Amino acid sequence: MKYDFDRVIDRRGTMAEKYDFAVKKGKPLDATPLWVADMDFATAQPVIDAIKARADHGVFGYTETDETFAQAVKGWWKRHYDFDIESQWIAKTPTIVYSLATAVRAFTQPGDPVLIQQPVYHPFKNVVVNNHRKMVSSDLILKDGKYYMDFESLEQRMKEGVKLFLFCSPHNPVGRSWTVEELRRVGELCRKYGVIIVSDEIHCDFTWKGQHTVLLKAVPELRDQCILCISPSKTFNLAGLQLANNIIPNDDLRRRFLEAKERPACDECNIMGIVACMAAYNEGEEWYQQVREYLLGNIDLVRSVVKEKMPGVTLTEPEATYLLWLDFRGLGLTEEQIEDKMLHEAKVWLNNGSMFGPMGSGFQRVNVACPRSVLAGAMERMARAFFG
Ligand SMILES: Cc1ncc(COP(=O)(O)O)c(C=O)c1O
Repeated sequence: MKYDFDRVIDRRGTMAEKYDFAVKKGKPLDATPLWVADMDFATAQPVIDAIKARADHGVFGYTETDETFAQAVKGWWKRHYDFDIESQWIAKTPTIVYSLATAVRAFTQPGDPVLIQQPVYHPFKNVVVNNHRKMVSSDLILKDGKYYMDFESLEQRMKEGVKLFLFCSPHNPVGRSWTVEELRRVGELCRKYGVIIVSDEIHCDFTWKGQHTVLLKAVPELRDQCILCISPSKTFNLAGLQLANNIIPNDDLRRRFLEAKERPACDECNIMGIVACMAAYNEGEEWYQQVREYLLGNIDLVRSVVKEKMPGVTLTEPEATYLLWLDFRGLGLTEEQIEDKMLHEAKVWLNNGSMFGPMGSGFQRVNVACPRSVLAGAMERMARAFFG
């Protein structure tokens, strides 16, 4: 089946967070929203069919998952990443952010330091601070337009007593797909200092440069101190259905994670999320391959508009994710000035870089998972607003 990603689907009036809360969030109603990380595309037809079939059943009682669910998750990870998951390793949560918060509560005490690498997806900091732990960052280093890990400061933070590391791989928002060598160095440090690592690999299915490497595959020695967080929600646009999977090979770590997950007593997953996850992993390959191609085309579009019409603005070359990281610092404007122009002249609603950490100031994050005509219009208006 050929999917039509050019089709503009009106999401207004569906309580879409991206569209329907502009006024509440202080944004103009007519600004094209390219911010929150979901897609404006309909998901794969087999997923829609599976949800409809389940809805037709009509009974929506308490639900658990069985081996057929585990087989679907395991199958995707074996086929795409040659990574073997054992069924009992899988711990479901409603969302990955819930998983991150659960890990913070399971493996640290109030006041303990928890390590992240800013600029990074802002809930990484929030789950630490909101649980009364101390956020410590080993900031990424930006060199010649590309971000790198700062292994010296990473080691320093671990030496200072960090026991938990929230790791983003691939990395949102800077778009890095970490190399095997980088993953091995991270693994070595975690092992040397006994640090538990949560590897959030939610964006891995959209890796553009080479192949995504699962941290636990690059460093199998991390088996007893790693939680791998995965989800079909970014890949198949299912965020509203609330289902994530956490792969925890070590029994004790998994027991502690499950205990912490159950403590707030609101950890059950959505029945439709389970149905969608299985259909996506079992039957969504065709849609997935096509959406990848389409997103690559959208990234090309942004690359060429930035190159041809936006002098002084730089696109951080995306190795992964559909979230592009644009560097506006060369224009000499404050973040407030950039945002104001973006919203009111370009009529485009993006994420300010500073929300991912103070060093993100002057950057803007652009979500390209929308029909090309929408993206092209937004980029043209952006070029005109900033460069006349
Ligand atoms: C790195 C990362 N983790 C987690 C999430 C959110 O996942 P969930 O909705 O399952 O919490 C996002 C969403 O953008 C993300 O970029």
